[in-house]
This record gives sequence, C-alpha cells and structure tokens, in this order.
Amino acid sequence: MAAWDPSQYLKFAGPRARPALDLLNRVELDSPGAVFDLGCGAGNVTRMLARRWPEAAVTGVDGSAEMVARARAGGGGITWVQADLARWDPPRAADLLFSNAALHWLDGHEALFPRLAGRLRPGGVLAVQMPRNYAEPSHTCMAEAAEAGPWRARLAAVLRLRPVASPEAYYDMLAPLARTLDIWETVYTHLLEGENPVVEWTRGSALKPLLDALEDDERPAFLAEYTTRIRTAYPRRGDGTTLFPFRRLFIVAAC
Ligand SMILES: C[S@@+](CC[C@H](N)C(=O)[O-])C[C@H]1O[C@@H](n2cnc3c(N)ncnc32)[C@H](O)[C@@H]1O
Repeated sequence: MAAWDPSQYLKFAGPRARPALDLLNRVELDSPGAVFDLGCGAGNVTRMLARRWPEAAVTGVDGSAEMVARARAGGGGITWVQADLARWDPPRAADLLFSNAALHWLDGHEALFPRLAGRLRPGGVLAVQMPRNYAEPSHTCMAEAAEAGPWRARLAAVLRLRPVASPEAYYDMLAPLARTLDIWETVYTHLLEGENPVVEWTRGSALKPLLDALEDDERPAFLAEYTTRIRTAYPRRGDGTTLFPFRRLFIVAAC
C-alpha cells in the first residue's frame, strides 16, 4: 500500500475536516452501536464520530501503518485497526460505515459499494465523501507534469485519473439496496495561505504516490513542472490568499 505522511496531510486539517463535518451532519442515526471509520487516517475525523456518539463502539480502519500510529497516539477510547479495505469486513454488522476522503484510493467501486452496504444491519447507514476534482488543474496539471519528462512510463502506472464515478453510477450501485439515498456534490472554495499552498495540499494526498515513484534526483524537476502550472491556474491574490476550488461527492445510503 502507498505510504502516507500524516504531518503533510494534516497541514490542511481544518479545510479537510469541513466535508467530513458536512457528511456527518447528514447522518440521521440517534444511537448507533457499531461505528466504523473507513480510511480513518490520523483519526481526527474518527474522534468527531466518537464525540457525536459517545456510547458507540467506534473503530478506525486504515491501511497505512504511519496513519494508524498517528491515530493511536491521539487516543480517544477508539479501536484502531490496520487493514486493507479491499479485503476488510466489519467483525459484526455495522450501524454506520463512514468514510471521508478515502474510498477513491480503492478500485472496483461497482463491487465495493454494494459489498459495504451489505455489511450494514437493517437501518444502518453507509456515508461516503470522495474528492471529484479530477477535471480541475489540481489534478490535470499532475497528469501534464507526469507526461513532461523521462518519468512518463513510471508515473503513468501510479496516476489515478478518474477513480470516482458519476453520481448516477453510485445511484445505480446503491439504489437496489437502500431505503433512502442522498447524493450531492459541493464545490468548496478553500482560502489558503502561504507559498504554493495548492502544491502543499496535493503533496499530502494525490501527488504523494507520484513523488514516491520518482528517483530523488528527478523530484525537483517534476515538482517544478507541476508548480509552474499550478501557480498559473491558482494565482495568489493581492492579499496573499490563494483560492482553491475543490469538488467533492457525498453519498448517504440508509439501508
Ligand atoms: C486522504 S486520507 C483521509 C483520512 C481521514 N479519513 C480524514 O478524513 O482525515 C486517506 C486515507 O485512506 C487510507 N487508505 C487508502 N487506501 C486504503 C486501503 N486500500 N485500505 C485502507 N486504507 C486505505 C490511507 O492510508 C489514508 O490514511
């Protein structure tokens, strides 16, 4: 599995938490017993789940040893499990399977989403948020920079061009299993500070596997290709702020 850098990811913990909160606010469960946070990362969103339902047995699941270690260090009366979600099943029927910004790292959503919905107890909820910014410069500039150097073939193997399907596709996957379905998209306009904040943002997520696939002496040239494009696409405003529009897809299936 890809290595993660919790500190780089958490540089933008505030704006990255906002969609998790918006997703959580749409989950209408009063007192769920078994709550699982899939792809829990450093555990900050998992702790939000535990705060909302203090009586629930909350488990955070993540494939990255670095992320699970960071989550565990934060405590919170939560069970932390290191596992690959492609093969993981909850140990018992779940009341809530929650996932913020994680399932786009897995393939085969036509099988994965119905499988997860099938692990809910009657009345349970599958709540998922995934980025859907792949047609925007944050991601298209990655593909362009990947094409622009001798690293082309290596990076083609790790680029994830369209890992998230259309809202309609998720409707078709889940409608046969759900009592109610709520699907929506939001474009957040993040207001970021600092030098090259969009590059700093993607270094903690989508850009990381590409950087990992490069040799040490290739990384500066690749980053220069990407950064030049990003600076043009997301110019810094007069007051130093960079506006970063980011589209996300939300799905809440009550089964
Ligand atoms: C962008 S982070 C999101 C973390 C957290 N949900 C949050 O909102 O802060 C994505 C997480 O998904 C995890 N992940 C990606 N693929 C995975 C897989 N196949 N199995 C388990 N975890 C996975 C990564 O290790 C990473 O911690």
